[in-house]
Amino acid sequence: MTDHIRLDNAAGVLTLTMARPDKKNALTNAMYGALADALQNAETDPAVRVLLIRGEGDMFTAGNDVGEFAAMAMGSFRAEPQVGRFLQALAQSSRPLIAAVQGRAVGIGTTMLLHCDLVVLAENALLSTPFVNLALVPEAASSLLMPLRIGYARAFEMFALGEAVDANSALAWGLANRVVPLDKLDAEAAALAARLARQPAGAVSITKRLMRDPDTLIAQIRNESAQFKARLATAEAREAFTAFAERRPPDFTKLAGT
Ligand code: COA
Repeated sequence: MTDHIRLDNAAGVLTLTMARPDKKNALTNAMYGALADALQNAETDPAVRVLLIRGEGDMFTAGNDVGEFAAMAMGSFRAEPQVGRFLQALAQSSRPLIAAVQGRAVGIGTTMLLHCDLVVLAENALLSTPFVNLALVPEAASSLLMPLRIGYARAFEMFALGEAVDANSALAWGLANRVVPLDKLDAEAAALAARLARQPAGAVSITKRLMRDPDTLIAQIRNESAQFKARLATAEAREAFTAFAERRPPDFTKLAGT
């Protein structure tokens, strides 16, 4: 249980709010668990026709909680990891997913958008996937979906250099459907969700299934996850997380690339 994920179901739209604004909505294991439960429960709930994902405060999410990454890297993380269940539920969702993104969407904050069917960005949105900066590798099937969506050159730069992409570039590259002023973000996303909720749910769901193959996505998520876990145990990752905790830039130059 966590009170950092808020659920609100109205008129066929289940809104999932990441609500940990003091930590920039950084996602903890408990939050992944709550999101996974919500996505899984929605599958059998006829009252949920559309899911809308949003973040409270000035940013969508700063990505995975870096403290929990560090605990995993140091071998002191004891809870049953929930992120895999969340990613699987995202990839398997038969309901249309909409995201409303303001400010930064870091790491999984950006890769989850690749599983959303409509993405609305505020003008101040900034998408980044700095996995390699943390000595990690892409997840959420993004190593497959990102180059498919935006091309290899842009995807490699986003992954390997951690380059952030602004809202208008994200729109031009096909990562989003709309860019709107920040004060119109929630209204625009809600209007799209309401329109989708009025569409025939069966036809929407099959259309989505024809366009996305969950089996391929889940196979990629498993491959990535094995590499990701192995990376967490490296000296590179220990340096990255120690540097984050000490608020200094990491120095990888003395470490051999193993
Ligand atoms: N995990 C855990 N805590 C995080 C976090 C994360 N991913 N991102 C931010 N926070 C915390 C900060 O530690 C800080 O906590 P404190 O107030 O107790 O010191 C608080 O949230 C505010 O963050 P701050 O860095 O002061 O905000 P900012 O607006 O200056 O910068 C970011 C925002 C997102 C640019 C910056 O916090 C950041 O780079 N975070 C890490 C992002 C990341 O690498 N995520 C993993 C991707 S794979």
